Amino acid sequence: MDKILIEGGERLVGEVTVSGAKNAVLPLMAASLLVDGWNTITNVPNLRDIETFKILLKHLGSELEADPQNNILKIKTSNLKSNEAPYDLVKTMRASVLVLGPLVSRFKQARVSLPGGCAIGARPIDLHLKGLKQMGAEVTIEKGYVNVAAKKLKGAKIYMDTTTVTGTENLMLAAVHAEGTTILENSALEPEVACLADALNRMGARITGAGTETIKIEGVDKLYPIEMRVIPDRIEAGTFMVASAMTRGNVLIKDCPHYYLDSLNVKLKEAGAEIIEEDGGIRVIGDVPIRSVDVKTIPYPGFPTDMQAQIMAMMCIGSGLSVITETVFENRFMHVSELKRMGADITIDGRCAVVRGVKQLSGAPLMATDLRASASLILAGLVADGKTEVSRIYHLDRGYEKIEEKLKRLGAKIERVKE
Ligand code: UD1
Repeated sequence: MDKILIEGGERLVGEVTVSGAKNAVLPLMAASLLVDGWNTITNVPNLRDIETFKILLKHLGSELEADPQNNILKIKTSNLKSNEAPYDLVKTMRASVLVLGPLVSRFKQARVSLPGGCAIGARPIDLHLKGLKQMGAEVTIEKGYVNVAAKKLKGAKIYMDTTTVTGTENLMLAAVHAEGTTILENSALEPEVACLADALNRMGARITGAGTETIKIEGVDKLYPIEMRVIPDRIEAGTFMVASAMTRGNVLIKDCPHYYLDSLNVKLKEAGAEIIEEDGGIRVIGDVPIRSVDVKTIPYPGFPTDMQAQIMAMMCIGSGLSVITETVFENRFMHVSELKRMGADITIDGRCAVVRGVKQLSGAPLMATDLRASASLILAGLVADGKTEVSRIYHLDRGYEKIEEKLKRLGAKIERVKE
């Protein structure tokens, strides 16, 4: 297994280009199940989650042609070999449940392993299933799997009690072929939802309102293959913005979807960073001392839960006290105990973490526990005194394309080694 070694203390300077968004590619890959013909997805990052989804699609019977060098992926699904998303795949990547909607919609049946808990919380899919039931599907659960069947889904008015990103996407994917009109109320506002709706509309679907709380989907009989480009990854971009700010760096982040990152921009500015919009990107200039700021995660357009661990790493070296409140997931503080091993002063009280800034973190051997926690440990390692070793970085490879190479080009002393 690989691990990452970092010698802290370098300022990050230079330019970095953001890759395509993992959370946008996965629903687009799922959408390819709805079409008989070659769908082409461009700007596809080379990530472990994408590989997992490719395995899942192959298992279902899709044909795939990948050109990773040029970040292109082609998918064609004429016939199904299986309608099952097995446990082994779903347990490594929850987003596998995204095949549920398209499978039921086009092939009338799906069997998907229930995801169960994960490192950051319980993460149920009850709202996905409730919505499908309202569209007339029969839903049964046995032996850890959910079976969903429907001869023909019917349009329905669906209210989701909690804002759910993949839930909204799954129901949108299911509704494109439903008879009549589906209205999704309290839909997730995340840009990746709008990206999926844009692609589906170009395929021939009739969706309005994506990106707002109310999405209307009028069922159509057939979709057609298209070429679609993945939007840039706002979380990867945000991670580099924090990296520049906390290393007192000066980094131009190219292909940066800053328009999706207002909440982070505000917090970084409050913390003392300078953020300049330039041709081709966003420049982030870090300054000292970092001012401690309070952060509360909220579904988009609020501060992203996927940036909570990274901003916490920054607050560890802030000049005062910061209260970080996690409202989206109930157990997303796994990085705290590792940051404390580096000398961070953090107290957890329920969904709040109180971070008292320290002058200096010290390098330490660390264990990554989930995707964004891994990123926060790397950020902490960049400013720590001495050597940091981060192991179990397969979590990192799920969602960051060649992060160590990108950071190295910015001047970080970082390398990947075999354990
Ligand atoms: C997506 C993102 C993930 C991000 C998260 C929140 C993808 C592939 N992943 O995950 O990176 O951290 O949004 O922004 O896009 N919930 C229910 N019942 C459900 C579904 C969700 O109670 O049926 C709850 C969850 O437990 C959680 C909250 O709703 O507390 C939000 O989860 P959700 O938006 O569904 O997260 P994901 O779509 O899994």
